[in-house]
Amino acid sequence: MPPAPLPAARVPDSLDAPALRWGIMGPGWIAERFTESVQAHSRQVIAAVGSRSLARSKAFAESFGVPAAYGSYEELAAAPDVDIVYVSTPHNFHHSAALLAIEAGKHVLVEKPIGLDAVQARDIAARAKAAGVFAAEAMWSFFLPKFDIVRQILEAGTLGTVTTVLAEYGEHFQRSHRIFDPALAGGPLLDLGTYPLALITEVLGAPQQVRALGQWHESGVNAQLSAVMEFAGGSHAVMNTHLHNFTPAAATIVGSEATLALDGPFNMPGGFELRFPDGSRLRHDEPAGAHFEGLHYEAAAVARSVTHGLSEVPERTLDASIRTMEAADALRWQLGIEFQGEGNSPT
Ligand SMILES: NC(=O)c1ccc[n+]([C@@H]2O[C@H](COP(=O)([O-])OP(=O)(O)OC[C@H]3O[C@@H](n4cnc5c(N)ncnc54)[C@H](OP(=O)(O)O)[C@@H]3O)[C@@H](O)[C@H]2O)c1
Repeated sequence: MPPAPLPAARVPDSLDAPALRWGIMGPGWIAERFTESVQAHSRQVIAAVGSRSLARSKAFAESFGVPAAYGSYEELAAAPDVDIVYVSTPHNFHHSAALLAIEAGKHVLVEKPIGLDAVQARDIAARAKAAGVFAAEAMWSFFLPKFDIVRQILEAGTLGTVTTVLAEYGEHFQRSHRIFDPALAGGPLLDLGTYPLALITEVLGAPQQVRALGQWHESGVNAQLSAVMEFAGGSHAVMNTHLHNFTPAAATIVGSEATLALDGPFNMPGGFELRFPDGSRLRHDEPAGAHFEGLHYEAAAVARSVTHGLSEVPERTLDASIRTMEAADALRWQLGIEFQGEGNSPT
């Protein structure tokens, strides 16, 4: 018998979260989306912005009403009126940018993926712990109200034994996008593949075996990665990620008692359905949304954790981020995918 109704989301209104003073490090595409979302839906204050170019940080500050603009990441890290740095550079600068903030005594929220590899992820976790500051990966999907309902369903055992997770993510990119640049850790794995991989490792933990196939792009980056993984108890996950064109970006979690099918794009606000073998269904409906509707939840959750003196945020622990990076490493090593600057951090 299906349980009814679905649990309610327990995520508080982002407007109720205490305000932190945020410094943006790397004012690019996602930094704009983050700023728009938190300014519209929360009390978080974008207090400063740091760019490699003073002209770019001033332009960003002017667009979003940010009071302080700096012409280097070092100056932003040292800025007096900043509680937390949001690292929004391309992937291969996440580690060095996070360390700048941590060593200046700032809390840090690092865009996904938290680093290029598990070595960098572990190093950020260790340095933040040693410095006594908060650190987290901005895996925004896990902070959405719908994901809180999904968590409750999983924790209640409604699916029975989870046997299979199927998750995929493909998008179309202009040829000028950094995803085609080998020097910027291009390829779909770290941009898009982190979402299916984060979901798979969140639900099933660390894989015991992985098998990956790759296809290459003329630019030299990986163009497509397909993988099968096996977990303790024999459950499986199948994932695909590529830079060829848009896919539904759907995810399905199959259990012995029920199947949970997330509408695509599964990493963004939107609906999902619980399907039972007798044909009955329980549907969670919410408007499909994107970054504007969703990014403020992670900022609000981080603000609550920091204000309560926590060193991590429960929705995305550093161990969980490290586990995802370990799985990503295992997959790409099978294909010989290397990123410039990976694993070179002291541990
Ligand atoms: N959460 C999400 O939904 C989401 C969505 C998209 C991207 N992301 C993540 O956010 C990160 C940034 O992505 P994005 O698309 O916003 O990137 P982007 O616009 O291409 O670049 C972000 C900024 O990084 C700075 N940067 C530092 N070194 C750079 C270099 N060598 N080349 C180019 N830029 C450099 C630049 O700012 P200055 O030079 O002015 O300092 C640039 O504006 C990625 O790691 C990505 O995975 C997350």
